[in-house]
Amino acid sequence: MKNAKLAGIGYYVPENIVTNDDLSKIMNTSDEWIVERTGIKERRYANVEEDKNYVMGAKAARKAMKMAGTNPEEIDLIVYATLSADYVFPGSGVLLQKELGCKHIGAIDVRAQCSGFVYGLSIAEQYIKTGMYKNVLLVGSEIHSIGLDYTDNGRHIAIIFGDGAGAAVLQPSEEKGKGVLSTHLHSEGEHAEQLAVIDPGFHKKERFHPDMIKPGGGFYPVMNGQFVFKNAVTRFPEVIQEALDKNGYAVSDLDLLIPHQANLRISQFVQKKMGLPDEKIHNTIMKYGNTTAASIPIGLCEAYEAGKVKDGDLVCLAAFGSGFTWASALIRW
Ligand code: COA
Repeated sequence: MKNAKLAGIGYYVPENIVTNDDLSKIMNTSDEWIVERTGIKERRYANVEEDKNYVMGAKAARKAMKMAGTNPEEIDLIVYATLSADYVFPGSGVLLQKELGCKHIGAIDVRAQCSGFVYGLSIAEQYIKTGMYKNVLLVGSEIHSIGLDYTDNGRHIAIIFGDGAGAAVLQPSEEKGKGVLSTHLHSEGEHAEQLAVIDPGFHKKERFHPDMIKPGGGFYPVMNGQFVFKNAVTRFPEVIQEALDKNGYAVSDLDLLIPHQANLRISQFVQKKMGLPDEKIHNTIMKYGNTTAASIPIGLCEAYEAGKVKDGDLVCLAAFGSGFTWASALIRW
């Protein structure tokens, strides 16, 4: 059985930079408050007429395919992670299949929010390991900017999120011991409503009501920030340690941790708790905010471009988010 390797990676973020000062012109907030609580300085907002979720996903995917030396015709399967799908249904995976001009291959949408990319990686690698497919395209893409509540009700959430996309092409690794070593997935649905958008869903007789779009209505994300924070700083170290234990490694063996970018304070807390030096963790939240399923591949690409991911390195991807879901992947690059 061959491991799956990330043969190509790519990312795309919209050009439009929205600073904290820009936000403070349209809502009741300040650069000082945002930086102090989250570390975020700016984020990107897409022009959704052009950069739809699947269009951004395609832009990231083309870069990943180029690096992997493959093309849409050769892709065997699409795994698409997002919480901000273009349509209620069908999922964005089929839109990407059309956009890229792939064959009539399978397209799986993954709904695991901030853990979406790692969940997707876990799914994708199974098809490679079993030998069923040679090229699996994994995408994480999000459009948050048009779904946020910019009133006082939602300001603690609106300041966090940004738009962007990341992708990877998985192929069988020809080198023994390299590629994805293991993945670890978890969920705790009793906290589903602690970080969620619940309307218009299919859980009420009256699927849509105008009250839903009023501030505080179910159309907008709700988040119990402190509860999310507390759970995140517990689950991140747990699931990273789980991946290390599974493969017989210690924290000191790790060359790089790419944590999902929820909040810089969460990343710093995890770094400290695990005793990782600054050069072994890569954060991007200052520039892009929280891009949910896209944040890990964006971080991975940036770290790779900066020469922080080298041949033979031990890299851990870890995520926590809405669901709650949390997950990790350990990769020998
Ligand atoms: N600008 C200015 N003031 C704001 C604000 C904003 N954007 N958002 C909230 N406030 C105010 C609140 O109204 C409140 O005011 P009050 O004390 O007068 O009532 C005060 O700031 C504190 O609000 P609170 O929501 O308790 O802040 P907090 O310290 O919990 O910080 C988060 C909020 C969201 C930054 C923090 O809880 C957090 O980062 N949680 C984790 C979230 C996360 O990572 N989510 C993604 C998971 S994948």
